[in-house]
Amino acid sequence: MARRMFDLLALASFSNSFGYAWGGSDAIVVSGSPPSNTSAPIPEAFVSFSIEFAYFPDYAGNSSSPNTFSNNLLNNLGALTGTKPYIRVGGNTQDYALYNASLKEAMNGTINPARSADYPTTIYIGPSYFDSYNTWPGTKFIHGFNLGLGGNNTAGWETLLETVTLACKALGTEKLLWWEYGNEPDLYSTSAQGPVRPASWNEAEYVAQWLNGTRAIKDQLAIACPELTTNDTYGYIAPSFAGTNNHLKYWTTWQDGLNTDHDIKLISSHNYIGGATQPGVTLQGTLMNHTSTVHSISTQVNESNYLSSYGIPFILGETNSLYNEGAPGLSNSFGAALWGIDFNLWCASVGIRRTHMHMGTDYRYASWQPIQTNKTAIGTKPPYYGNIVVAAMMGNLVENSVQIANIPLENEREAAYAAYEKGTLARIAVVNMRQYNYTVNGTSDVLNTVPRPQQEYTFKIPDYCSRTVSVQRLYANGSDAISGISWDGTSYNWELDEGKPVRLDNVTIGEETRAAGEFVKIQVPDSTAVILNFGKQGSW
Ligand SMILES: *[C@@H]1O[C@H](CO)[C@@H](O)[C@H](O)[C@H]1NC(C)=O
Ligand SMILES: *[C@@H]1O[C@H](CO)[C@@H](O)[C@H](O)[C@H]1NC(C)=O
Ligand SMILES: *[C@@H]1O[C@H](CO)[C@@H](O)[C@H](O)[C@H]1NC(C)=O
Ligand SMILES: *[C@@H]1O[C@H](CO)[C@@H](O)[C@H](O)[C@H]1NC(C)=O
Ligand SMILES: *[C@@H]1O[C@H](CO)[C@@H](O)[C@H](O)[C@H]1NC(C)=O
Ligand SMILES: *[C@@H]1O[C@H](CO)[C@@H](O)[C@H](O)[C@H]1NC(C)=O
Ligand SMILES: *[C@@H]1O[C@H](CO)[C@@H](O)[C@H](O)[C@H]1NC(C)=O
Ligand SMILES: *[C@@H]1O[C@H](CO)[C@@H](O)[C@H](O)[C@H]1NC(C)=O
Ligand SMILES: *[C@@H]1O[C@H](CO)[C@@H](O)[C@H](O)[C@H]1NC(C)=O
Ligand SMILES: *[C@@H]1O[C@H](CO)[C@@H](O)[C@H](O)[C@H]1NC(C)=O
Ligand SMILES: *[C@@H]1O[C@H](CO)[C@@H](O)[C@H](O)[C@H]1NC(C)=O
Ligand SMILES: *[C@@H]1O[C@H](CO)[C@@H](O)[C@H](O)[C@H]1NC(C)=O
Repeated sequence: MARRMFDLLALASFSNSFGYAWGGSDAIVVSGSPPSNTSAPIPEAFVSFSIEFAYFPDYAGNSSSPNTFSNNLLNNLGALTGTKPYIRVGGNTQDYALYNASLKEAMNGTINPARSADYPTTIYIGPSYFDSYNTWPGTKFIHGFNLGLGGNNTAGWETLLETVTLACKALGTEKLLWWEYGNEPDLYSTSAQGPVRPASWNEAEYVAQWLNGTRAIKDQLAIACPELTTNDTYGYIAPSFAGTNNHLKYWTTWQDGLNTDHDIKLISSHNYIGGATQPGVTLQGTLMNHTSTVHSISTQVNESNYLSSYGIPFILGETNSLYNEGAPGLSNSFGAALWGIDFNLWCASVGIRRTHMHMGTDYRYASWQPIQTNKTAIGTKPPYYGNIVVAAMMGNLVENSVQIANIPLENEREAAYAAYEKGTLARIAVVNMRQYNYTVNGTSDVLNTVPRPQQEYTFKIPDYCSRTVSVQRLYANGSDAISGISWDGTSYNWELDEGKPVRLDNVTIGEETRAAGEFVKIQVPDSTAVILNFGKQGSW
């Protein structure tokens, strides 16, 4: 049983934001109108993805063999939020990709295990690479150009000039969102995969090279795709730094004139909550830990506040749980899905305007594995179910003005959020991140016989909410589960209907609870999440 007692000081500040009415010692009061620190209305496609450049052909397929599994999973999210996720095609491999006009295949990548076992660091792309932009109807893309080698050698610079034409013709006004020039340039002179700039490289040189390259891109566009050079169609996400305290700093870069040409449409930063092999990283301590999430994102929030004076929205253009492609047993577990809900809703509540969850073939933190490989089975992975819950919490962002507020809870192993639609409370999400293992010591040979604890939450809801509340749950056997996940009784698994929603007959759907007066009580088993949906009085 979760204690809901607050000391008087905490209670006072809590009540300031969530209304003065106090319904009892154990009720969490949810304000009838958005508290002052609620997010601004969330822009469409908040739930978006970033796909590793070298693995984009695996995810998307090509015109003669489109990856319909991926498309089904994108459609599910689009059905919930009104827009299919935006796709950024980029990452470390965008800065290794050189163009080879004679290459028949989309990509020829060579893995050098000394540099990275997870992705190729010698990469050639052929003309057919760009055909992968033709397989997902109604999807918008950000294409990442190579600055790592582009500003370093002749082949890199020629690649830039040649691929602008191919990319702009493949994307056109319908599919192009924005461009990106360079991935994580703040690590170019220190990269663990091999530096591509000297140690002396600094913000001023980066800015000069970025301006030089983006102007060359615009010149090529003017020749090949002039319709993509207007103010509305031409722009970048930038600077796509890996972090806030690396070799290059945001503020200096900005002051050195990165946006001289006024073509940066979104400020993009990357974030990982920790590292895959970082000592001390655990599911409970690092991922299923609200404090850890708040702490991890706080420097980005500071930056976005600083940079917001320039009036340019701030996004996470690449993010996920643990850098270096995630850790098995952590990033691919149900616990990571719960983390993803807390992380994304927290980001939304503090003013980050969109998150692109990163993935690649065989990456441990991927929302799905797009093809069968000898390392990983094709399939919908646990993080995808977290994406679905975030989308369900947002609702239709095209039709509605939706704002997200964090509801402070006392324990770092739980988190709650309110979604306001057109200024009134529409949904509450509760993520109970207390770890419940369904196996003992990580082997499915021995199942946990300890009954699964649950927490009871009582919310005092506004007068105008209906007394009947519909309840949707995210469920799996435990935080260590990597399969058998359902959202609201639905599975999106590959093996059922290639990622299309399938109603399961072994999980309850249509659950409802009744509020007693203004109080609604809900039981949330450990390592599960729930969304309470409120109608207006009389609407149920
Ligand atoms: C919003 O304000 C309340 C009251 O000051 C505070 O408890 C809460 O932490 C704030 N939320 C965020 C996301 O800053
Ligand atoms: C380019 O592709 C062609 C055809 O596959 C190949 O013969 C050639 O070696 C490639 N060039 C490089 C630099 O990889
Ligand atoms: C299209 O994809 C299929 C399946 O992966 C592959 O066999 C084929 O070579 C691809 N076509 C091109 C032009 O790359
Ligand atoms: C692929 O790249 C490797 C390494 O650069 C090269 O040896 C090989 O010939 C390339 N294959 C093709 C088909 O271009
Ligand atoms: C832009 O970069 C290219 C490739 O490094 C170089 O050849 C060219 O001189 C640069 N132009 C300017 C104006 O710096
Ligand atoms: C090009 O990259 C190499 C490493 O591959 C680096 O040593 C060198 O300094 C870079 N040159 C420039 C001009 O940035
Ligand atoms: C171009 O668009 C940006 C917003 O994307 C706007 O701030 C700027 O004023 C526009 N410039 C012109 C010349 O219309
Ligand atoms: C949660 O994260 C915070 C911040 O990283 C850390 O201080 C705390 O010990 C973590 N909690 C647990 C249970 O590991
Ligand atoms: C696994 O697949 C990769 C890529 O297709 C291939 O290079 C490798 O040899 C395969 N390994 C085994 C053990 O089959
Ligand atoms: C689980 O691990 C602990 C500590 O190593 C050990 O004492 C216990 O016997 C193990 N339980 C089972 C069922 O293997
Ligand atoms: C769950 O499993 C993890 C990893 O095996 C272990 O560290 C943790 O103590 C377990 N938690 C509980 C509550 O049993
Ligand atoms: C329900 O059925 C699905 C599909 O057969 C399975 O994966 C899942 O584990 C089952 N869930 C429960 C709670 O038994």
